[in-house]
Amino acid sequence: MDYTYEELIEKAYKASEFAYSPYSKFNVGAAVAVSDFAGEVKMFTGCNVENSSYGGTICAERTAMCKAVSEGYSKLMAIAVVSSEGSYTYPCGICRQFLSEFSDKETVVILHDKDKNNVKKMLLCELIPEAFTL
Ligand code: THU
Repeated sequence: MDYTYEELIEKAYKASEFAYSPYSKFNVGAAVAVSDFAGEVKMFTGCNVENSSYGGTICAERTAMCKAVSEGYSKLMAIAVVSSEGSYTYPCGICRQFLSEFSDKETVVILHDKDKNNVKKMLLCELIPEAFTL
């Protein structure tokens, strides 16, 4: 593999330090392992970016994935999601649908519980069975 789950978790925590979350004070970080049309693998990171309109807020997962897609890396192999809170931070419903666009049956979601230092590995298709498609 061109990346490890540990590496993704570490990068996600680094990204969470840049969270713009003056309203919720809830800092989220995400790191994606993605590949381009030629199969080259890269990692991108993102944090949540809030807005005073609230509805304009963008989650960390979508920030990371948009950075990847906009540079040509649109096949999602794995994503790590972490937050400033203890216990696991699961991707919200909008992010599950958004990420499923770029996923396959093997796309992995890695979660980290900071308090217990536990890692949970799931499949994105378990988190969003029957995702909407056109
Ligand atoms: N948030 C994420 O970044 N990802 C999620 O999957 C859930 C929620 C952010 C959005 C908002 O800035 C804060 O967490 C509280 O909802």
